[in-house]
Formats: sequence, C-alpha cells, structure tokens
Amino acid sequence: MCGIIGYAGLVGGAAERVYEGLLRLEYRGYDSAGISVLGEGGITTIKRSGRVSCLEKAARELGGNIAIGHTRWATHGAPSDVNAHPHNCGVFSVVHNGIIENYSELKEELAAQGKKCVSETDSEVVALLADSLYCGDPLAAVAAAVRRLRGSFALAVLCSGFNGFIAVRQKSPVAIGVSSGAYFAASDVPALPDEAEDVYFLEDGDIAVVTPEGIAFYDSALNGQKRISCRILRGQFTADKGGYAHFMEKETAEDARTVRDTAEAFLRSADVGGIANLLKGADEIIITGCGTAYNAGLIARRYFEEALCRRVSVEIASELRYYPPPSGKNTLVIAVSQSGETADTVEATLRLREGGASVIAVTNCGYSAITRIAHMVVPVCAGAEICVAATKSYMGQLAALYLISRCTGDVAAAAEELEGVAEKLEEVLSQEERAVALSELFAVSFAVFFLGRGLDYDAAVEASLKLKEVSYIFSDAYPSGELKHGTLALVDENTSSLIIICQPQTAKKSVSAVHEVLCRGGEVAVLTTLPDVARELEDFLPVWLLPPVEPRLAPFLCAAALQRTAYLTAVRLGRNPDKPRNLAKSVTVE
Ligand code: M6R
Repeated sequence: MCGIIGYAGLVGGAAERVYEGLLRLEYRGYDSAGISVLGEGGITTIKRSGRVSCLEKAARELGGNIAIGHTRWATHGAPSDVNAHPHNCGVFSVVHNGIIENYSELKEELAAQGKKCVSETDSEVVALLADSLYCGDPLAAVAAAVRRLRGSFALAVLCSGFNGFIAVRQKSPVAIGVSSGAYFAASDVPALPDEAEDVYFLEDGDIAVVTPEGIAFYDSALNGQKRISCRILRGQFTADKGGYAHFMEKETAEDARTVRDTAEAFLRSADVGGIANLLKGADEIIITGCGTAYNAGLIARRYFEEALCRRVSVEIASELRYYPPPSGKNTLVIAVSQSGETADTVEATLRLREGGASVIAVTNCGYSAITRIAHMVVPVCAGAEICVAATKSYMGQLAALYLISRCTGDVAAAAEELEGVAEKLEEVLSQEERAVALSELFAVSFAVFFLGRGLDYDAAVEASLKLKEVSYIFSDAYPSGELKHGTLALVDENTSSLIIICQPQTAKKSVSAVHEVLCRGGEVAVLTTLPDVARELEDFLPVWLLPPVEPRLAPFLCAAALQRTAYLTAVRLGRNPDKPRNLAKSVTVE
C-alpha cells in the first residue's frame, strides 16, 4: 500500500540507494514511482507512472547525499506521472503512504490562500500545508502540518537547504536503519540494506529528524522522545528470489520450513500457561483478520472448537471494526496478520481492546502495530514474504493457531504432529505432475469453483482466493451442500470445480457433489487424502491423492497443493504472480 524511502548519508549516491530500496519495496505498490534528491541548487524530482525500474537511469545520474523515494498503490487519482510522488511545493518535497482523510477541506483552505494542487492525490496537500506554515524552520513547519492532518500517514519530507529528511509515522509504519555513515528509512524492514542492522521503529505520532550525523525523535508538539533501536537478523528479512523465477515459487517452497520454525519458536518461547488461562477464562473468543489471515482463522475456529468444546467466532476485521460484539469485556481476540499493519485488523483489535478484551496477536512481523496492541504475541516464523499472495505465512498462521488451540492440552504432542505435517508438505510439493495437470485445467476455465465440507470448505476458501488473485480467473468457494441452492446454475462445460475431500465423515456427501457437477457437463477434479475416494473416482476424472494425514491437518496439505497450482496457472497465463494487478502487499489503508 505504497512504500516510502528516505536516505541521509555522508557519501554520495543517495538517489541510487533510494532506487535500490524502492526495488526491494515494490511489492507494496507498483503503479508509479519517484525520487527527490537534495542538491546544492535545491531539490530535483523524477517521477513516472510505471514500475520502479523506469527510474533506473535517472537515479544512477542524480547522486546526492540526501534523497527520498516512493512506490505507489493509487488510492486518490489514477496512476499517472502527475499523481506519482514525491509532491513538491516551495521548499518541500513529500512522499506519503496512507490516506489523508481531511484532504478535501485542506485543499479548499490552501486554494483560498492561492496554493493549488496540481495532482488528484490526497498526499499533495501535505507539501502545500508544510510550505504554507514554513517560516525558516523545516521541523516546525512539518510538525505544524502534521497536527492538521487526519488519517493514516507515513511521510518522508525533504526541505531545500536542510541537510537531512524528516520522517513521520501516524498509523503507517516507518523503520529507520542505521549503518556506518548512513541512515535509511523505509516502510518495511526488507527494504533496508543488509548493512543497516540496527533499526528504530517509529511509534504513532513520532517525528524523526534524520541527518547524515544522527537521528532525533520528537512528538508532534516537538517534545524530545527517546527511542531504542533493535538489532535485526538480516537473514530473516532478505528479499531475494534465491534462484527461483518468482517470490511466490520460492515462498511456497518454504511452507514446510515455516511450519517447523513456527512450532519450534512456539515451544521455545510461548507462555503456554498464560494462553491456556486466557482460553479458559474468556466468555467469548473471536478470531479476526483480513484475506488469507481471515481464512487461516476459518480453519483455526474448528481447532479451537474441537479442543475447547465451545463455539468460537471468526470475523472479517473490516466488518468487526464497525460491528463489534455488544460486550467486549472478558472477550479474547486472536488477531491474525502477516504484516501486523493491516489497517482494518489493527483498528478492529484496538477497538475491542479498548472495550476490555484481551488480545493475542499472531503475526509474521514482530515489530508491527498489532504487536503494540496485543497482550501476547505468538510469532509466525515465515521470514520476509514478498509475493503479494500470502503463501508460507498462511502455513505459519495455521501452525501457530493450531498450537494455541492445544494450549489447554498436550502442546508438545501437537508440535510433533506439525513435524509430521512438514514432512508431508515436502512430499506434496514433489507431486509436481499433479499440480501441472490441475493448472492446465484451470487455465482454460472461464471460472473455477472450490467445494468442500467442514475443514475442506475452509481450505477451499483460501484456495479460491489464491487462484483468483494471481491468475485473474473468476473463482469462488462453496460448501458442497450449497451447490444445489444456487451455484449449480453457473456450472457448464466452461467451468471447473475442484472438490476437496479429506474429511471422512462427509466424504460420501462430497462425492455426491462430484456427480452433481459432472452430470451438468462441468469439468471436475478432486483433491483428497483418502485412498478410498481416489480409487472410486480416479477412472473417470483427475484425482490428486495427497499423502494420508489426520483429517484436521489436511488443510495444510491442500494449501500447499493449491498454492503451487495457483502459481503454475498464473505463469501459464502470463501473469506476474508476485505483483497481481490492483493489489499491494500491506493494506495499511482502509
Ligand atoms: O498482512 P495481513 O496478513 O494482515 O494481510 C491480510 C490480507 O491483506 C492478505 O492476506 C491478502 O488477502 C493476501 N493478498 C492474500 O494472498
């Protein structure tokens, strides 16, 4: 959801360093990009609609010691050169991630003073506002402007004549990495260069003044603040394809490793007794998240219900934030988020916490907004996930949630089960010819339906999301019992249905769904862990038989199989699975 970069160094090459950072940050948005560099004659800006790479030549020529940059995911105004950041006014140049909610009124106010926006963005008002408040002190002007802004924003601001940049955080993340002789700000840690091992994470409301000589932190009233840096293990955050064609391929190949690392970290560091007390003491348990994280919650709900013998709800965070339960007291919220920065998940969780709820965060990013809200953090150990489509992080979320659900019982035994799952995931990913065959079927389909019952349905929901977001094929998931209540009307020879059958107690019902689709002329394929089902169906339709596994753990295997299939389908159709159109990795705006 847009990425910002700032660089202040003792030696030149600032534009190039910012350009390299933008390449690493491009997964946050990729419709336009730009860089501003501070020079002796003032600020030079280059910005273009298109990918970051269109800035390469100019960035290599610009040099400088101080620079800021931006990669955009459009919210206000179409992707175009003029809407690309940085936005400049007077002595200021600004890059912004987030949404300025009161931009219309500010625009009107500034227009009345003769300061007119040239772009359609909400962001440009920040530059105009800072310039209108400028009396020779850039920090005072930026702080005064920030006090007028409503919404979410991470900013990096250059001011002509000031040898540094100013970074601001309000609900959108900013990390500042330190290496010898240089400071580097970015929306996400993977965009920081490897040598920047010590990292400051700005708090909401922070304003940081970054120069080649050091950093100073302030609140919006310009009171000095003390911030402590963390040492980041770079290996965990490398944004490198490691020889794979795409990040999605690499990250899917890390599914098994993620399950193992997440289980190992849980056994090593989780407060099992504390979690058990929260689970036992809560009147209500709500799992929340968005997209894939929500889908992990769907699976987890069954784990919790089975382990605790009680009802548990799963809520889409963008709904929950506006429609919370009547009583927040004695509620346990389990907030799931890869990035830990998803605006809806953060806001929904915050709202419930303010109403008295306890919060467990399940996240892949230990220094994120959600961790600051949570009473307890359970890490997902996926490492940097660069592909917009969540793959290994979903595996890690499933593993973490499974272990949390077992905290009132035998956690060590559950971790052992996950080791078994990890071995089987490797086996699934070696069944390449099955994934290829399925991708061939999907690639020629007008629409793909994913069907299943119980946990198989929950697995279908995530499989459908994965396929549609990377291949652009229309897809939806249904409980197979719902077919004849409407969806069957869509089935014809141009549609495919993938029926997941891994739950023995409803296997026969799902086999009936196979026949219902087949006799209406639809293409059908089956994904199963049950050898009997495979034997019954394999003579007349494609069947992918996965390794046998405890039925409740089958969603892990289905996810790996269908992540790989979605990837192959996207590549077959010439899509870039790492950067699906219109999407971005971290959804830090509403
Ligand atoms: O960072 P989060 O886990 O909070 O992100 C939630 C969703 O935005 C994310 O899972 C999204 O749905 C992915 N593109 C799915 O692949």
